[in-house]
Amino acid sequence: MGNFCRKHCSCCLQTCKFSDNNSESYKVDDIVIVNNHVENAGSHPVPHQETPQNITVHSRKDSRVAYVALFDYEARTSDELSFHAGDQLLILNFTHESWWKARAVTPREKAEGFVPANYVAPVHSIESKPWFFRDIKRSEAEKQILQQDNKAGAFLIRESETQKGNYSLSVYDGITVKHYRIRRLDDGGFFISPKKKFQDLEALVENYMKVEDGLCCKLRKPCTKNEVPLPPDLCYETADHWEIDRNSLKFLKKLGQGQFGEVWEGLWNNTISVAIKTLKTGSMNAEDFLREAQLMKSLRHPKLIQLYAVCSLEEPVFIITELMRHGSLLIYLQNDNGATIKVPQQVDIGAQVASGMAYLESQNFIHRDLAARNVLVGDYGVYKVADFGLARVFKEDDVYQAKKDTKLPLKWTAPEAIRSNKFSVKSDVWSFGILLFEIATYGKTPYPGINGRQALEKIEKGYRIPKPFNCPQDLYNIMMECWNAVPENRPTFETLQWRLEDYFETESSSYLDSNSFAR
Ligand SMILES: Nc1ncnc2c1ncn2[C@@H]1O[C@H](COP(=O)(O)OP(=O)(O)O)[C@@H](O)[C@H]1O
Ligand SMILES: [Mg+2]
Repeated sequence: MGNFCRKHCSCCLQTCKFSDNNSESYKVDDIVIVNNHVENAGSHPVPHQETPQNITVHSRKDSRVAYVALFDYEARTSDELSFHAGDQLLILNFTHESWWKARAVTPREKAEGFVPANYVAPVHSIESKPWFFRDIKRSEAEKQILQQDNKAGAFLIRESETQKGNYSLSVYDGITVKHYRIRRLDDGGFFISPKKKFQDLEALVENYMKVEDGLCCKLRKPCTKNEVPLPPDLCYETADHWEIDRNSLKFLKKLGQGQFGEVWEGLWNNTISVAIKTLKTGSMNAEDFLREAQLMKSLRHPKLIQLYAVCSLEEPVFIITELMRHGSLLIYLQNDNGATIKVPQQVDIGAQVASGMAYLESQNFIHRDLAARNVLVGDYGVYKVADFGLARVFKEDDVYQAKKDTKLPLKWTAPEAIRSNKFSVKSDVWSFGILLFEIATYGKTPYPGINGRQALEKIEKGYRIPKPFNCPQDLYNIMMECWNAVPENRPTFETLQWRLEDYFETESSSYLDSNSFAR
């Protein structure tokens, strides 16, 4: 608990009780809430209508900030707490890595219960501000700001992924999105124009909400946060006990049929929409299937399908994952056929998949079946990698030796993996090149007119898929690098990710020069 706390809890300085071994016994009654706007208010309880910014929470021995809800959350079981975005919460106990016990400062039906840790942030932290978007790139900022519900003046502040503490302001002027670098002063302050300096980002935002001061327009509303993160589990209870009762599932609609069974849209506990993957009785070793589940459960990334639970005590075995409204990328691309998906969207899909794969790469997992049919499409242009069914942890030599009888999707599989049954992250990179081809051709099958074996023979003689019609040369060059005959010479997913994310931008030319507009 102590280490976890030190890592995850921004309030934890040396004196924080949460980092003590006996943190479980921490009592909220020790806390006094201070209204900063009332003089000598140390003993005053906070009025219900107070805004989070005005509240600091002090325990008798130390002081810390209270938490604020970032999104709405509806309790799924009786031991959880419902809340709305903006509600104030006191975290009583950092019980679990992803679920914390909280007390509502302004209770609704219930005063205490578990809350998903990724739905709350310390009150005074930058994460609690509706305009703060961590870890998003310029292109992603533009995508989010240009969504329909944002009007002129919509804005966000984002932190550089690579250079922590460096921020940029992105503003929608009604036509395009403009970007401004926020520079740091040595004393910790911030400025866009050197003529006007602020002690913190909040003060900077407040100023530019009042006056244009040389920006393209006044800041009005923070960009809408449409992408609400998933709660990490079905509910607090299933976080550690993810074998669930199959009677808690209702099957609603068959979504598709795969090699090992069917996929259904369903409801868990009559409330939560889920995808249920059924394992055909006897079609595959149940152990293999459960290994897939075990892997998926331990892997968490916004661009990977989240596994929630399994029903493995009797056959058919079920695996329960997050539901993706728009199904497989392959069908999605074929249906669109260029109507709405153009080059920028194609590059964005590639970047999102590369981001999920870069995470797998960092975890030393091999996917082994990367293809458009195994990428799923959600709302708001979100794409996630699914089916790590064949993934395996690297053996010591960094290469997994496949079993002889495994059926391989030949046209997606790297030649060295087919020939010598050796898979590595570099064979996933080869498959990623084929996936880029599928994206560029709106779901065409690679190597038309020949079968997988014939394609392999041609590849070994040096043949590569030619540049698809209308595919930009730069995108094709990336595919060709993925198909390098020497696995080690193929790029890493980390590199593929940033190359696709930065595809349209040269950072230095994409920002407005702060000196040119300052008064
Ligand atoms: N989590 C999910 N959410 C929505 N649809 C899904 C999900 N998982 C699978 N599907 C749908 O079910 C189909 C079958 O999936 P699957 O069994 O993995 O087979 P395959 O990968 O060969 O298509 C997919 O093509 C997709 O349309
Ligand atoms: Mg699949």
